[in-house]
Amino acid sequence: MRDLFDKIYKDKGPLGKWAAQAEGYFVFPKLEGPISNRMKFRGKEVITWSINDYLGLANHPEVRKIDAEAAKDYGSAYPMGARMMSGHTEMHEQLQNELAQFVNKEAAYLLNFGYQGMVSTVDALVSKDDIIVYDMDAHACIIDGVRLHMGKRFTYKHNDIESIEKNLQRATKLAEQTGGGILVISEGVFGMRGEQGKLKEITDLKEKYNFRLFVDDAHGFGTLGATGAGAGEEQGVQDKIDVYFATFAKSMASTGAFIAADQEIIDYLKYNLRSQMFAKSLQMQLVVGALKRLDMLRTMPELREKLWENVNALQGGLTKRGFDIGTTQSCVTPVYLKGSIPEAMALVKDLRENHGIFCSIVVYPVIPKGLILLRMIPTATHTLQDVEETLVAFSTIRERLEKGVYKKLSAGVTATMEEAE
Ligand SMILES: Cc1ncc(COP(=O)(O)O)c(C=O)c1O
Repeated sequence: MRDLFDKIYKDKGPLGKWAAQAEGYFVFPKLEGPISNRMKFRGKEVITWSINDYLGLANHPEVRKIDAEAAKDYGSAYPMGARMMSGHTEMHEQLQNELAQFVNKEAAYLLNFGYQGMVSTVDALVSKDDIIVYDMDAHACIIDGVRLHMGKRFTYKHNDIESIEKNLQRATKLAEQTGGGILVISEGVFGMRGEQGKLKEITDLKEKYNFRLFVDDAHGFGTLGATGAGAGEEQGVQDKIDVYFATFAKSMASTGAFIAADQEIIDYLKYNLRSQMFAKSLQMQLVVGALKRLDMLRTMPELREKLWENVNALQGGLTKRGFDIGTTQSCVTPVYLKGSIPEAMALVKDLRENHGIFCSIVVYPVIPKGLILLRMIPTATHTLQDVEETLVAFSTIRERLEKGVYKKLSAGVTATMEEAE
């Protein structure tokens, strides 16, 4: 028999086994200084392309002022207890009402964290006779929600309408036997590659199949649509999304999240979301801060305009220079290059140390072997100068990659990794 901790001592897990090579630099890096377009990494200034502060609210003076005042007025404890017991306030209700109005739904309900709220919402929406049909590239919080489901679930090929339809047919047949219903889950924007979920096409399928649609719009909320209400608004189908979700962790630059739907659905979820019923209410400091941020989303369209000016300059510039940015339809900007994991590490080191560019790096198993994905998140705080410097740096590193410079630089790492594998 094995000791339960053997995997911890010996194997360390799929990511943990690279800790010696990666920790502190590629994973768990420490970005320092005020949150903005330029921060410090290991004492040097870098252009930061890896923070989801889309609208630049994280360090906006008006936001900082309200956050500080709310902390002074309420501390970080108030209100104590779960919403149902003693953690409910006028301000929580006001924020819910304003969020619902903003995303064009009858009602909304606050969640303490997006991840945990998403897990819980999936859990509350289905019972064991129901069937879940969801995108293969779904965020971990959707997958974890689905894991709680006691009934059947089918994945469909990422954003592939034919595959969705095939799985809806399978699910319909099964639901006829079990007497259950069908929940389809998609993201509004897929955070890694930036494609929008095919919400229009999915909702069109409602004419042929009986299902309800749940959309995680973490990256769409505040960035897409005429008013910033997200991917549903952008695609003109917000009214056909049955349950809409967004987090405060991106455009709102805070902590917390919400779901929005018809009043009756929210009333049901309010009494069935275990993660909210049995956990402390979102603290007032965050509620007051979210009210201010939401007000800025509504009244300062110039923030979204500046964001998109930067997105267009970055994505347009990369495309013009012949970079492969995949099929993004959002602010999320991926750049695909060909190379091994050790080459990717050497390349990112070059970008950070010699060009002052800090972006996230994604490699196998998240994307196919042999590909390197450099993921950039433009924000309203970036400048066109930041974009230009980044484009020049990217052209340089591509040239070095193609000439095999990083292969040579990473020969030692390659040998260590092969040994570890
Ligand atoms: C698509 C998506 N859903 C949910 C979450 C979780 O939200 P939170 O950070 O509020 O827990 C994230 C990440 O933040 C996300 O990218």
